[in-house]
Amino acid sequence: MAILEILEVPDPRLKQVSVPVEKFDDELRTLVSDMFETMYDAPGIGLAAIQVGVPLRVLVIDLQPDDPDAEPVACAHDGHAHHHQPTKREPQVFINPEILDPSEEQTLYQEGCLSVPEIYADVERPSRIRARWQDLDGNHHEQDMDGLMATCLQHEMDHLEGILFIDHLSRLKRQMALRKLEKLRKVA
Ligand code: NI
Repeated sequence: MAILEILEVPDPRLKQVSVPVEKFDDELRTLVSDMFETMYDAPGIGLAAIQVGVPLRVLVIDLQPDDPDAEPVACAHDGHAHHHQPTKREPQVFINPEILDPSEEQTLYQEGCLSVPEIYADVERPSRIRARWQDLDGNHHEQDMDGLMATCLQHEMDHLEGILFIDHLSRLKRQMALRKLEKLRKVA
């Protein structure tokens, strides 16, 4: 396993359209395990293969990014100290994903992206979708999704078309976001 470099805007490779996976082999397994390691290290809740420079239709998602090996965190509520159990990891792999039947109803979520670090903005997307995808063995799956999972999958699927979440913003808001990122980079 290896932690890979995450491409950031304005890297032109992020605008590439990714191609379908045809071979479900060891190379694909290695890519997926490296993507998980990279995403957990970042840390983030989703990553598309193109974000590590591989133009294949492969996504990894885990909405529970907490480190399961971490010690329980002590925190105080109402003066009582108690322990929060760390959440369990729930890694999910989506190969050649498709979206079917997006709902008319839209939901607003504040999104961020490992390729646009430190920038967050509200994006509206269909609240519910039906998703179809393949797993590492090439088996097909179909499932209805809503909430954060629906939003995250749509965000990651955009990467496969070369689209970033800031591309959903108005031109003015996008320029402001990119300028802010430039400033943050200068400070860093
Ligand atoms: Ni992203």
